[in-house]
Amino acid sequence: MNRPRNLLLYIWLAALAMLSAYYLYRAVDYRFLHADRLGPSLFNKQLWYFSHALLALPVVFGAPLQFLPKLRQSAPRVHRWIGRTYVIGASGAATLAIYLGATTEYEGSRLSIVLTGMLWLFFTLAAWKAAVARNFVAHRAFMIRSYTLALVLVWLRVMYDFQDQLFFYVQDEELRDATREWASWVVPLLVVEFWISWLPQVKSNKSFKSKPLRGST
Ligand code: HEM
Repeated sequence: MNRPRNLLLYIWLAALAMLSAYYLYRAVDYRFLHADRLGPSLFNKQLWYFSHALLALPVVFGAPLQFLPKLRQSAPRVHRWIGRTYVIGASGAATLAIYLGATTEYEGSRLSIVLTGMLWLFFTLAAWKAAVARNFVAHRAFMIRSYTLALVLVWLRVMYDFQDQLFFYVQDEELRDATREWASWVVPLLVVEFWISWLPQVKSNKSFKSKPLRGST
């Protein structure tokens, strides 16, 4: 990778880490520093909120390091250990997110959160499997997808802060909440798919020319 591209990558990762820390602080403040929002008892949500947030910590602070080319090259063992912590943390946090999403009081958000959780879990496990099989092209692609969904923590709250500009056309408050919930993962995932899978395929004429479809003349 050349120098300007490296610099852009560092700036982008640093920005994501800072945004994650800021929105994590806001999420913790919202849920854990107001007793009435934490759920009625230990097993009725309190433990699950707490475990979800705790398991997601290595995701927030470990993931940006995993994309640094220098760290991967000079300290592959560190990359491997952070990676293992990421997979355990993200898998646990995603599983709990599925439960929290299925039982959230906001009906319009339920399906969206459950799907995000399932995809987040699938992308994380697929990335891990690809790394074990030493298929590093697939490993990189699935890690980018997994981290993109982990960052729903950020995308959702950025969209909340700018909702008057982004969702001005949705007047009904409940409909606006549901639209934001869906947009917070569908839009970033589409952008990432465009970048890592669709654009490279369009650029390589080969993939269009090779192998005619079965049954075509
Ligand atoms: C690294 C990423 C993440 C971190 C650090 C994180 C952290 C947190 C924290 C601190 C809370 C409590 C604050 C609140 O309820 O708003 C929370 C709640 C929640 N998170 Fe996450 N989260 C992450 C990613 C995700 C993802 C990707 C999903 C979706 C699959 C998700 C689903 C949920 C749900 C459903 C709740 C409960 C919301 C409610 O009951 O209203 N989280 N998360």
